[in-house]
Amino acid sequence: KIIILDFGSQTTQLIARRIREQKVYSEIHPYTLPLAELRAMQPTGIILSGSPASVHDEDAPFSDAGIYELGVPVLGICYGAQLMTVQLGGQVERADKQEFGKARLTVEYTGGLFAGLEIAPARFQVWMSHSDRIKEPAPGFAVTATSPDSPCAALRHLEKPFVAIQFHPEVVHTLIGTDVLRNFIFGLCGCRPEWTMQSFIEDTVAEIRARVGDDQVICALSGGVDSSVVAALVHRAIGDQLTCIYVDTGLMRTGESASVLRFFREKTSLQVIDVNGTEFFLSSLEGIADPEEKRKRIGYGFIEIFEAEARKLANVRYLAQGTLYPDVIESVSFRGKAPIKSHHNVGGLPERMQLDLIEPLRELFKDEVRELGLELGLPEEAIYRQPFPGPGLGIRIMGPVTAQRLDILRRADAIVLEEMKDSGWYRKVWQSFAVLLPIQTVGVMGDSRTYEHVIALRAVDSRDAMTADWSQLPYELLGRISNRIINEVRGVNRVVYDISSKPPATIEWE
Ligand code: XMP
Repeated sequence: KIIILDFGSQTTQLIARRIREQKVYSEIHPYTLPLAELRAMQPTGIILSGSPASVHDEDAPFSDAGIYELGVPVLGICYGAQLMTVQLGGQVERADKQEFGKARLTVEYTGGLFAGLEIAPARFQVWMSHSDRIKEPAPGFAVTATSPDSPCAALRHLEKPFVAIQFHPEVVHTLIGTDVLRNFIFGLCGCRPEWTMQSFIEDTVAEIRARVGDDQVICALSGGVDSSVVAALVHRAIGDQLTCIYVDTGLMRTGESASVLRFFREKTSLQVIDVNGTEFFLSSLEGIADPEEKRKRIGYGFIEIFEAEARKLANVRYLAQGTLYPDVIESVSFRGKAPIKSHHNVGGLPERMQLDLIEPLRELFKDEVRELGLELGLPEEAIYRQPFPGPGLGIRIMGPVTAQRLDILRRADAIVLEEMKDSGWYRKVWQSFAVLLPIQTVGVMGDSRTYEHVIALRAVDSRDAMTADWSQLPYELLGRISNRIINEVRGVNRVVYDISSKPPATIEWE
């Protein structure tokens, strides 16, 4: 496997993805990973990521220089290249000019990372983002490529398997990026493309079986992709030793989880306990308008109900949970970030109930989870469901949640989803939904004045929900959705479209 040491670059995750796309397993660890642990992982290659820092900063992130003694190929990318240079005795200077964006690379050596590409001196478009640059390569290194602002845009050690590049091979703007990474993992490291979903399933199933033994496992099924895939995977490993609990908060969309529940009940022998908490949640949300307060009440309520059900089962020792790789990386990242919103998951439960966690998706990215789900036989409509927040429609109704306002939002949302699906846009966007605003506006219907609710439409494009752009839906589609909502949903006389990106807005309105 390839170990990526993370120095805090925005694109570190992309490096891992690009490598996994080549069917080679790769993991990200903070640059502070102790050398002994790194050695114990028996990496076939090590990649040093980029960073917003400069090697000249007082508290610059430096990894253990012992990695160059492991006898393992090392690739330094951007900051990683500068770090390697400094650690091995070269010099890095602050450049007068930042090099940012597309640049032309002139390759002077067509072996190593540039093997199989065109004959030198070929020119390639690469993506740069740096203000420091390598001035003097470390002893034993030769320059293999240059760019207008980087005389040392790529380097290789003449005897050891160390290579460094100033550009970012992981971003799509670097047209030769995949070739460069392939040359590193297959050429220099000698990896083989053996990491597939099928091998992942076999390994994980065996691991879960060995770990769980005769004990019982519970899992919160939400209707979303992650929990469905976890349930299917754990069920494949231990069958009836797994019990799923589905809590209906009454804040779900029309028919939201029914299809997933139906699938599990009809197509598999998975045991699902189904609890209806509609009354409970509605009364606990009564009169509450503050978004954080709503989130907390829904979150705690969920845990309370889930826990009560779980306690009825005997010998439960584990909680299976759909934690994904981006969550793991976020939480081990050395740059602590304050949470913007208190996200809803079964937080706190494992400690309270003294449960151990089983998180079989911790190493996967979202698209890999989807692939895994399909491989496990989950239906496509469950796999390609858009993300839906744990607190459900509760945070899409601005102001207090009531049964009547829920009903309005549900009807409007059903129209949005139907139109998005019919037009083929549902899968093209990251999320698309309706939000009910806490105001009323004046309208005219027939000959009479109306004074009714406003629905805001939200549709965004995103890779990972960390950033998002509002989707440029066709006017015609927007028009159709608006018309239908105003005509078919009683109590709504106006529809608006949200054209804000994240940041500074967020995807959800609360
Ligand atoms: P925001 O609104 O923070 O949302 O831009 C980012 C993504 O997370 C989803 N979301 C949640 N998911 N529990 C969840 O499981 C939550 O409490 C929650 N809040 C937001 C949101 O739908 C978007 O995909």
